[in-house]
Amino acid sequence: MLPCSDQLQRALLVMNNPINFEEKFSKFADHWSPKVIAEMNDYQFKLVKIKGEFITHNHEDTDEVFIVIEGSMKIQFEDRAIELESGEMVVVKKGEKHRPYAENECKIMLIEPAGVVNTGGAGGDLTAPDNDWI
Ligand code: NI
Repeated sequence: MLPCSDQLQRALLVMNNPINFEEKFSKFADHWSPKVIAEMNDYQFKLVKIKGEFITHNHEDTDEVFIVIEGSMKIQFEDRAIELESGEMVVVKKGEKHRPYAENECKIMLIEPAGVVNTGGAGGDLTAPDNDWI
């Protein structure tokens, strides 16, 4: 039996193969649905394309790292908003309410523990499948 995609991706990781962001981003077009590209211990590296507004949410148990790879985005917090350009990152603290948005499509990487749901405790239609490897 052929290995499923998850198993194959993990096997390739074990072989220390380089992971190319551009090649990975070419594999999907949907917005707000994080794709896992690598794991380090119990943390995952996820690529996401974002466009438009996400919902306000927080993650009760963990910080969340946003790294902008291409484009620009904003994150609205309760008391302020920040803008991130390509080449910039931010650590959103555990429990902090945040609402990401991007006027034009923006390509980002998230780093967070495995099992973190994109909408946190808010739920709703934008909740993406967890552990979706590409
Ligand atoms: Ni979040």
